[in-house]
Amino acid sequence: MNILVISGPNLNLLGKREPEIYGSETLEDIQRWLCKQPETVDMELRFFQSNHEGTIIDTLHDAIDGTDGIIINPGAFTHYSYAIRDAIAAVHIPTVEVHLSDIHNREDFRKISVIKPVCIKQIYGLGKTGILEGLKILKSHLGA
Ligand code: DQA
Repeated sequence: MNILVISGPNLNLLGKREPEIYGSETLEDIQRWLCKQPETVDMELRFFQSNHEGTIIDTLHDAIDGTDGIIINPGAFTHYSYAIRDAIAAVHIPTVEVHLSDIHNREDFRKISVIKPVCIKQIYGLGKTGILEGLKILKSHLGA
């Protein structure tokens, strides 16, 4: 199983960024932790982070051949990027939307996801465990 894990804007600052909301681990800490979990031993995980909408869209397009599933935390793009939503729909690869924080119990604008309708599942509020949950969902969706 070839899985692409995309992190959007400001997630490169994990560890420093509002630790009371996002925790004290860096993105690299989380990626290392994911690779060590027994559930991921048979997965090939590719990690990608960008602060740029177009770069995320290009990466989704590049995934069109040879990627079985996608985990995406689009950061704030979640709430308004119809372009990222269209790219997910276009590549037609099973995608799980994951948020570290509980977007449904924060500011009102975070409750809206324009990405959700093109994803097989939205996960939020579980921190890094939510990414692992997303990977398990992809695995069972792909029948692996
Ligand atoms: C986030 C939630 C978004 O609202 C926010 O803009 C982020 C991170 C999360 O993981 O909880 O950048 O996607």
